Amino acid sequence: MTALSAAQVDHEADPDRREGIIGNRPDPTRLLEPSPLLDLTVLDRLHNQSVLSAMQFDKELLVELAKLAAYLQLRRFPAGHALEDKILAAAFFEPSTRTRLSFESAMLRVGGKTISVADAKTTGVAKGESLRDIGLMFNSYADVVVVRHTEQRAVQDLTDYLKIPLINGGNGSDEHPTQALADWYALLKWRPEIAFGTIPERFRLNIGIIGTPGNMRTVKSFLTLALLFHENISHITIFSEMADPLGDEIRELTNASPIGIDFSQNLEQSLEYLDVIYMNAIAFLGDGYRFFADAFTLDGESQLKPDTVILHPLARGPELDVGLDGTQHNLYFNQADGAVWIRQALLLSIFGRVRDVVPTTFLA
Ligand code: CP
Repeated sequence: MTALSAAQVDHEADPDRREGIIGNRPDPTRLLEPSPLLDLTVLDRLHNQSVLSAMQFDKELLVELAKLAAYLQLRRFPAGHALEDKILAAAFFEPSTRTRLSFESAMLRVGGKTISVADAKTTGVAKGESLRDIGLMFNSYADVVVVRHTEQRAVQDLTDYLKIPLINGGNGSDEHPTQALADWYALLKWRPEIAFGTIPERFRLNIGIIGTPGNMRTVKSFLTLALLFHENISHITIFSEMADPLGDEIRELTNASPIGIDFSQNLEQSLEYLDVIYMNAIAFLGDGYRFFADAFTLDGESQLKPDTVILHPLARGPELDVGLDGTQHNLYFNQADGAVWIRQALLLSIFGRVRDVVPTTFLA
């Protein structure tokens, strides 16, 4: 047997390798134990809807989506052909690895088709074509479109011309709602009690966010959904060197929340009480993307609590050392891996096809 064929045999036999990720891999089954039935009247709220902002989700909808994602990840339902008559257009006018590929993977795994723009330079945009004309074409070519754009307004503007649902795949510094769904899907698998019931006060979560919600889209959308779980979150500490990391829109939301919001520039001193650390180092500042990888970093030597988990939307820079990848602190690979299933749950809901894949015994 050659070395290559031996490796292939291992890959088939070893479920850990088949899963393809390392680090913390919470079992999706745990999310289904407290309440195994799905409430389709909740998921029906997404039927034919565009998803532009994390603010469209309430706790009930987020939890039902996460439960459907868990069933899909566990391959409990025969969903292989559910979207075989549907086409997803992934129109990315800004680079992406995970968002575009996980949406395409989600669609293909339920029999759907995909068409893709991976680089704006390969479209009429390079010749000055307007968003209006592009939007009008999407109506003819696809049944749903996922759009990423550097311009905050582009996604909202496109909806003026669309007759099909649009999913915001990241618009400038504004929002990345489906990334936040993936973030919270990972966290709810890790600690399902965040979604179900009330955690005793002294065990409620302390979350650290490294980044600026005011101009980092993933951080803003993550924080928006965090506020839905205020019964089980004690404090959120924002680590940023900026004078005003929240901005007006998010400050309004946090002011209305019972969760305590703190600001700090000393990550090391805070590590002893943080249960969850969400980090990102890419911000959009007016004219382009900037990297803030130096101020707050984590590596294998960081004095984390034994059960602290780290989330990062990726792509990462030096702020998150690969020395953490093989540890239980690493929830970031699970976060990226689960994106396929939460996005598939979202697509099935938008197309109104959940009933086609969920056996009636699983329905509330
Ligand atoms: N998290 C995220 O948006 O990654 P991509 O830029 O690779 O899509």
